[in-house]
Amino acid sequence: MRVIVAADPAAAAELAATRILTLLHSKPTAALGVATGSTPSPVYRALSRAQLAEPLDLSRARAFALDEYVGIDARLPQSYRSVIDAEVTEPLGFQRSHVSVPDGSAADLAAAARDYEAAIDATGGVDLQILGIGHNGHIGFNEPGSAHDSVTRVVTLTQETRKANARFFDDNIELVPRQAITQGIGTILKARSIVLLAFGAGKAGAVARALEGPIEEASPASALRKHSDVTILLDEAAASML
Ligand code: GLP
Repeated sequence: MRVIVAADPAAAAELAATRILTLLHSKPTAALGVATGSTPSPVYRALSRAQLAEPLDLSRARAFALDEYVGIDARLPQSYRSVIDAEVTEPLGFQRSHVSVPDGSAADLAAAARDYEAAIDATGGVDLQILGIGHNGHIGFNEPGSAHDSVTRVVTLTQETRKANARFFDDNIELVPRQAITQGIGTILKARSIVLLAFGAGKAGAVARALEGPIEEASPASALRKHSDVTILLDEAAASML
């Protein structure tokens, strides 16, 4: 595991964007694992700038989102489908049919989760997974207690996570869905390479626990230490408890 403390989030985002561009240059059919949340946004913006300056043909590349809320209309701006389309699909020039997001409005959610896991496997797996981290150490929507070999499934969000995400729902926790479909920790660990980003003092505790605490189910991100190709990109505040 490599831990890089960058001068600021923008510098960390540039490093992640460079990793992604290098991959897409060498493998035009690559599958990118994309996360939502505020942390990866500067990475996608850096990629958009690079695409404007020197466009790369992404028509054969694929992307898989980590998760989606259950019961949300995919057309609402808070749905992860909308977020990924606005931050990744459209600005970077992916084909929409090549960008997959779990179907949180499926009638049979368990089947949708199984199909999602199968779709990732069918394309040969994710080459590079971008991750953020929740304040409680969650990755994707794998809350503390998730098995480290878990696969894509329906999960119940903790109150803490719903509270943290209320900022995207008019600061009204009642509007935040209670469940999500998320790639499992085992699914995430199947990616060939993983880059996790964390910025700000609010993430310092989660980062320290993930990197230096016990590898245990109570600490979802600690599972990343079982993977052989993980890069952690931090700003100084997020690294302050290491
Ligand atoms: C959500 C997402 C995670 C993300 C986390 C942190 O819960 N499901 O994938 O890592 O939020 O979000 P932020 O980067 O906004 O702090």
